[in-house]
Amino acid sequence: MMWRAAMVAAMVLLLSAVQPAEAGIATVAIDFGSEWIKMALVKPGTPMDIVLNRPLSHDKLRVLTVRSESKRKTANVVALRKGERTFGNDALNTAIKYPKTGFRYLSLLLGQRMDSPAVKEYQLMFPEHKLEALPGHNTVAFRLDEDTLYPVEELVAMILEHANELASEYAEQPISSHIIIIPPFFSQAERRALLSAAELAGLNVLRLMSSSVATGLNYGVFRRKEFNATEQHILFYDIGSTNTIASVGTFSQVKDKSSKVPQVQIKGVGYDRLLGGFQWDRLLQQHLLKAFRAQHGSKLKGDPGANPRALAKLLKEAQRVKTILSANTETFAQIEGLFEERDFKCKVTRDELEAMAAHLYPRVLKPVETALAAANLTLDQLTNLIIIGGGVRMPKIQDILVALR
Ligand SMILES: *[C@@H]1O[C@H](CO)[C@@H](O)[C@H](O)[C@H]1NC(C)=O
Ligand SMILES: *[C@@H]1O[C@H](CO)[C@@H](O)[C@H](O)[C@H]1NC(C)=O
Repeated sequence: MMWRAAMVAAMVLLLSAVQPAEAGIATVAIDFGSEWIKMALVKPGTPMDIVLNRPLSHDKLRVLTVRSESKRKTANVVALRKGERTFGNDALNTAIKYPKTGFRYLSLLLGQRMDSPAVKEYQLMFPEHKLEALPGHNTVAFRLDEDTLYPVEELVAMILEHANELASEYAEQPISSHIIIIPPFFSQAERRALLSAAELAGLNVLRLMSSSVATGLNYGVFRRKEFNATEQHILFYDIGSTNTIASVGTFSQVKDKSSKVPQVQIKGVGYDRLLGGFQWDRLLQQHLLKAFRAQHGSKLKGDPGANPRALAKLLKEAQRVKTILSANTETFAQIEGLFEERDFKCKVTRDELEAMAAHLYPRVLKPVETALAAANLTLDQLTNLIIIGGGVRMPKIQDILVALR
C-alpha cells in the first residue's frame, strides 16, 4: 500500500462563502462518488441547504442529502444497450443481466493511466470490460467493439447530464451553476478529467470542492450557534464504497467587522484510496463463488468464475449479504439459476466475513493517524468523532473507531 503525505488543506472557508450571490438562481452541489451520486441544492439564505430532508443525528451524518429512486441517493451508473441509455436503478439492473453494457464505479478511472493501481483494481472488479489507453491521451477508454471506443469522460458526462436533469426537476428550474464534490486526494489529472466530463455534459462548474470541506460545511451549517471563539476540533471518518477519508475540521467563530461569523478550517486529511466497502464485497463474492464450485463443481461444464453474468449476480448477492451481516451474525446467500441453471444457497456468518477481511482492518486507522498528524492534534484534543459513509455500518469497523475514544 502506498502512502502519500497528507495534504494539509489550509483552506479557510467562511460558512457563508458558498452562498450564491443572486436570489432565485439554483446552484447544485454534486457529490460524484464511486457507487452513488448525492446532490444538494445550494440556496440563498442557508449556506448549504439539503435537497431532501433526512434527520441528522449527532452520531451519524450524511455528507449531503440526496435524491433518487430511493429518495436518498442515485446509483452512479450508465447502461448502454440496444441504442438505449439508462441510469440509476434501471441501469444497475441492466448491468447485472448484461454486464458488458453497464458502466459503474467510473470515478475510479477518471484521469488514470492504464498502469495505475486504480485501473488494476477496476479490472479485477469488472473483468468483463476491456480497457485500453485512449490514443493521444494519458487516460483510459472502454473498448465496446471493433469500432467503438468510449473514453471514461464521455460515460461520466452522460451520468452528469442525467444527474443535472434530476436536480433541475427537483428545483423546478434550470440549474444555473454547479459545485462538484471530489475526494481530497484527486490529482490534477483526475480534476481535469472530471471537469472535461462536466463540460461535455453542459454543466457550469463554479468550483470543485474537496469532500472534506463539504463534510465540514455540512456539519457546521446546522450548528452555527454552537461555535464560539474557542476552537472545536472534530474528526470525520468517511469509509465509502472504494475509499476511506479522515478529515479534521476546526470550527470556531471569528469576528468579521461588525458580526461574528462561524468558520470551518480543514486542518488535516488522511486517506486510503482503495479501502472501501467494495473490498469486502469482492472477498465475499469470491467466497460465494468457491462455495458454489464446491457444491456443483464436478457437474459444471463451464467456469462460473469466467462468466460475467454469474460474477455480477454473485457481486450483487455479496453486497446484500454484507449489509445483512452488519446487523445479523449469520445469513443465507441465495441465487436462483446462478450458472448453467443451477441454484445456489449457502450460509455465511459475520465471523467468516471478518476472517476473510482480516488483512483490511489494520488499514482502518491509518487515515486517522495521518489526519491527526497533519493537524498537529492528538485524540484527546478532539471534541467529537463523527463517522459517515456506508462502510461504518460494519460492526468491526465501528468497534475499531469507538475504541479510539
Ligand atoms: C464555547 O462553547 C463551549 C461549549 O459550547 C464552552 O465550554 C466554552 O466555555 C465556550 N467558550 C467561550 C469563550 O465562550
Ligand atoms: C504542535 O502542537 C504543539 C502542542 O500543541 C505545539 O507546541 C507545536 O508548536 C505544534 N507544532 C506545529 C508545527 O505547529
